[in-house]
Amino acid sequence: MKGVILAGGLGSRLLPLTRVTNKHLLPVYDRPMIFYPLQTLVNAGITDILLVTGGQSAGDFLRLLGNGTDFGLKHINYTYQEGERGIADALRLAEHFAGGQPICVVLGDNIIETNIIQACEKFGKQSGGAHIILKDVPDPERFGVPVFDGDRITRIEEKPKVSSSHYAVTGMYMYDATVFDRIRKLKPSGRGEFEISDVNNQYLADGTLTYSILSGWWTDAGTFESLRRATNLVAQGGANKIDVPGMV
Ligand code: G1P
Repeated sequence: MKGVILAGGLGSRLLPLTRVTNKHLLPVYDRPMIFYPLQTLVNAGITDILLVTGGQSAGDFLRLLGNGTDFGLKHINYTYQEGERGIADALRLAEHFAGGQPICVVLGDNIIETNIIQACEKFGKQSGGAHIILKDVPDPERFGVPVFDGDRITRIEEKPKVSSSHYAVTGMYMYDATVFDRIRKLKPSGRGEFEISDVNNQYLADGTLTYSILSGWWTDAGTFESLRRATNLVAQGGANKIDVPGMV
């Protein structure tokens, strides 16, 4: 399976930190944020990776990551998002890279303690469709939230006022090659973005979306509060960090 990291966007919830740089280059404890999702993919055995970014600091990713040798990679693919119109819009840019293969998509501000290998294996056993990873959280209204009927997800609500479960849909998704046709069918949401939850709802309507529940901690890092939490969690140890030569 190929991997895609989405690291564009304006990072407006972190202004002024993001006025002159990309959110995913900000520090989370002792590493730039982008290191963590990259490590998540590498730890899952995914080494053919595309980084989607944009804005004025896009070139900094090349200087920081180069060909990915710090991560044991031989090569990293990069592409540039013009404008900021949401996660699903950024994912469009991965169509050529995916080349008809299944993909594992990770949002650049999602950090985990453990790994996603089991979820990848589960997805690998199903014939196409999609797979999402859930995590129970105290503040589900901040995220995509699954609505359950027993064990079955009936739909996903994006940032509902009142959440109908205590799970968040984490920013780690697996898709078959139909994802790009599904994105083409999307209309912008109320916040003017092409929502990844709308893509997942299309798979749900077809009965081809499965899910796993993540063990260990998970956090995003796109607000001051979650960035602080991410830093604390990583500092306490246990994140899927690599040892980078030249770093303590
Ligand atoms: C995005 C998705 C949301 C998901 C979250 C995970 O939210 O829209 O469904 O739960 O990532 O980090 P956003 O980062 O746009 O607030």
